[in-house]
Amino acid sequence: MKLTVLTSYEALSKHAATLVAAQIHAKPGSVLGLATGSTPVGLYAHLAAMHKSGALSLAGVTTFNLDEYEGLTAEHSQSYQAFMQQHLFGHVDLAPEKTHFPVGELVSTAYDDAIRQAGGIDLQILGIGGNGHIGFNEPGSSFDSRTRAVNLAARTIQDNSRFFAQASEVPHRAVTMGIATIMEARRILLMASGKQKAGAVAHALEGPVHERLPASILQRHSDVHVLIDEDAAAALKHL
Ligand code: GLP
Repeated sequence: MKLTVLTSYEALSKHAATLVAAQIHAKPGSVLGLATGSTPVGLYAHLAAMHKSGALSLAGVTTFNLDEYEGLTAEHSQSYQAFMQQHLFGHVDLAPEKTHFPVGELVSTAYDDAIRQAGGIDLQILGIGGNGHIGFNEPGSSFDSRTRAVNLAARTIQDNSRFFAQASEVPHRAVTMGIATIMEARRILLMASGKQKAGAVAHALEGPVHERLPASILQRHSDVHVLIDEDAAAALKHL
């Protein structure tokens, strides 16, 4: 694993955007795996700004998002489809038919088949949940898991309630790429920011590789770049 600790969220977002842009420049037809949540918002803003300035085109890029809440359509403001439209897709030249979510006919291993047919993911962007989840692969998810419908952990439902008007509106289920699906990406960029992620980051990078901390599997991937800010790095012992 390669680890880069940045001084701030802004520096983290800018660095991540440089890496993603370099991937697209090296291979304009790149297949990207995309994450949602607050962590990649700054990254997407930088990519949108690069596009606006004429420095980056995503016209050849294909995307596969990690996950989506079960039952939320693109019209729902808190769906991940709406999130991507708001933060990235609405600002760049990505072709809508080249963007994919695990919804409709792609709610299970059909999603993995579609990823393979597209040539496999070149670069997967990942956040990490406070409980160590990746995508919506909650603690206890099998390392062999594929794209499937899952129940969300109580902590995840609570963490995500900040985006919904009422706690009762927060979905309890989602469809997520599996851990084996994620591990097939050629390169992975794991991003984390803030003190609330410090414990999960330390367990993922320095703890035992175990299904109770899904992100720990990344220690077994051959090309992972971890980009975190100083707060998220606070619990690491071996910096
Ligand atoms: C959600 C998403 C994950 C994301 C995580 C962290 O549950 N399904 O893909 O990495 O939350 O989110 P945030 O970046 O908002 O902390």
